[in-house]
Amino acid sequence: MLSPQSIPDYLLQSDAVRARFARLKAREPVLEVSNLGKRFASPQGEHVALNNVSFTTHRREFVCVIGPSGCGKSTLIRILAGLETQTSGEVRVNGKAVDGPGADRGMVFQGYTLFPWLTVKKNVMFGLRMNGQGAAEAEREALQWLDLVGLEKFANAYPHQLSGGMKQRVAIARALANRPRILLMDEPFGALDAQTRAKMQAHLLDIWRNVDITILFITHDLDEAIFLADRILVLKAHPGEVQELIEVPVPRPRSYEQFTSPEFLATRARLDALIHPPQSHESPEDDARVSPHMIRMTDVNDDVE
Ligand SMILES: Nc1ncnc2c1ncn2[C@@H]1O[C@H](COP(=O)(O)OP(=O)(O)OP(=O)(O)O)[C@@H](O)[C@H]1O
Ligand SMILES: [Mg+2]
Repeated sequence: MLSPQSIPDYLLQSDAVRARFARLKAREPVLEVSNLGKRFASPQGEHVALNNVSFTTHRREFVCVIGPSGCGKSTLIRILAGLETQTSGEVRVNGKAVDGPGADRGMVFQGYTLFPWLTVKKNVMFGLRMNGQGAAEAEREALQWLDLVGLEKFANAYPHQLSGGMKQRVAIARALANRPRILLMDEPFGALDAQTRAKMQAHLLDIWRNVDITILFITHDLDEAIFLADRILVLKAHPGEVQELIEVPVPRPRSYEQFTSPEFLATRARLDALIHPPQSHESPEDDARVSPHMIRMTDVNDDVE
C-alpha cells in the first residue's frame, strides 16, 4: 500500500491517458448542459436543487456523477431524460434542445422497472413495438440485445424468476434496444450485493465497448465511479453545483487489480477530499445534519462499547 506522501497528484496523466483524453474531446459533443438551474417550491420557501450546472459530454464517453445525498443528481438526470423541466438553462442532445422524453435517451433506474406480466423478451420488445416495429423484427432485435447482456437463455422467463443483477441486465437491454445516443443510469447497481455489483460493472464496460453509446451514470460509490468513468462530475449540495469535472488518470482497459494502483488511489484521495471534507462546525444546522439527536432507548447499564 502506498503511503499518503507517495500518492501522486490525480492531475498527473501518463502520455497514453493524455492522448486518449485528447481523442475523446475531439469527438462530437453528444450532451451539452448549460447553466442549468432547478428550484422546487417547498413549505419552507424555494429550494434550489441545482444551480448553474454546465458540462459537455462527448460521443462514447463514460461520465459518472457523484455527490452527497440530496445534491440534485437524480433531479439532473430526470431533467436530462425530459421527465422534469428545468427552471433555467438549457440541455442539448446532438445539438437539439431537449423539451421532453425522447428515443435518443434511454433510462435505467435503481429500482427494478420491468413489467412483471411480460416475459424478458417481451419486456425488451416493448419499446420497439411501441415505435411501430413489426413483431418478428422486434423479436429478432430483442434476442440480439439479450445475447449482448448474456441472457438469451432467459428470453421466455418472467422477471420474478431472475436475480437482481439479471433484472438490471434486462433493463439495460431494454434501454439499448431503442438505440438511444445516451444511456442515463441513476444508481443502477445500488441495490445489488457487492459481488453481483462488481460483475455488473465489468459487464457494463464490455457493453459500452461494443455499442456506440454515451453513458451518464450516477453512483454513491467512489470506487465504482473511478472504475467506470472517463470523467467524474462531482456535485456539491445546498445548492447542487459542479465542484469539479475530474479526468480519471487510470488507464483503460480497467481491471480490479488497478484498485491499488497509484492513479486509482490518487483519484480516490481527491474524491474523498471533495465528498467527505473535514467537518466544519460553523453552523448549528450542519451539526444537526451530521449528528441527529440520539435518544437512549435502553435501561441496561452494561454499555456495548
Ligand atoms: N419533486 C420535488 N419537490 C420538491 N423538492 C424536491 C423534489 N425532487 C427533489 N427535491 C429536492 O431536491 C434536492 C435534490 O434531490 P435529488 O433527489 O435530486 O438528490 P440526489 O442527489 O439524487 O439524492 P440521493 O443521493 O439521496 O439520491 C433534495 O433536497 C430534494 O429534497
Ligand atoms: Mg438520487
